[in-house]
Amino acid sequence: MSTANKNQAKGTGRVTLGTLRKAKREGARFASLTAYDASFAALVEEAGVDLILVGDSLGMVVQGHRSTIPVSVDDIIYHTSMVVRGTARALVMADMPFMSFPDAGQALKNAARLMQEGGAQLVKLEGTGAQAEIVQALSAQGIPVCAHIGLRPQAVNKAGGYRIQGRDPEGARALMQDAQAMVEAGAELLLLECVSAGVAESITRQSAVPVIGIGAGADCDGQILVLYDILGITRGRRPSFSHDFLQQAGTIPAALRAYVEAVASGSFPGPQHTFD
Ligand code: KIV
Repeated sequence: MSTANKNQAKGTGRVTLGTLRKAKREGARFASLTAYDASFAALVEEAGVDLILVGDSLGMVVQGHRSTIPVSVDDIIYHTSMVVRGTARALVMADMPFMSFPDAGQALKNAARLMQEGGAQLVKLEGTGAQAEIVQALSAQGIPVCAHIGLRPQAVNKAGGYRIQGRDPEGARALMQDAQAMVEAGAELLLLECVSAGVAESITRQSAVPVIGIGAGADCDGQILVLYDILGITRGRRPSFSHDFLQQAGTIPAALRAYVEAVASGSFPGPQHTFD
């Protein structure tokens, strides 16, 4: 049983942000995964995953698009409501899709829909320090936010591709500043995608809030992966920071448990999933 499971708050029945903060304080690594429907979400939760993300990755792995950009707020609401119905314990986080938070007003309206219509407990948005004001506006209204920094798939067209972030001193400094700005603005969680392991370690050590990594080395407080990647069913090439847990485990429940255990024990991510 995961630490968060043991520490689950009485009352709500779901893992809370307080549970994840306690895990950080105690140095207990927690596992997160994406899920997009009730049946998979139930299996993910049963395996001991504390935080489920209804990610805009659904645009690629469910809808078959080439990027996350076509995903709409309605799409995320539809999938979030299924994940919420399929679970009772995990904290459910909904992604704010491309152009759903261009200013504080639209961010508030769309985040409220994800929570009221979708049933999400918190929202995630991709950004840099430039989006700190939006995080502040959401947070001031009691909407918990996870700030996704580092590689931002919604900005892939501007970035010109999917690249590891923070490898050069200037990039590392910018990431540290983004992290600080987001936390000062009220972000409750940070998510680092494709970040050099040393920079991710520094951000995690200095951050007052739990830090979740994907392709960001072994030293983050928690790890997250795309469900279809760990089951080996993503079309095309699986990202090198991920791992097909199904191949060895043989069944989906066993693969999910293997992932949760590997995160808790620190055996995932290994050096082969990590970038310097
Ligand atoms: O949309 C998503 O699945 C994500 C993860 C890659 C963290 O943002």
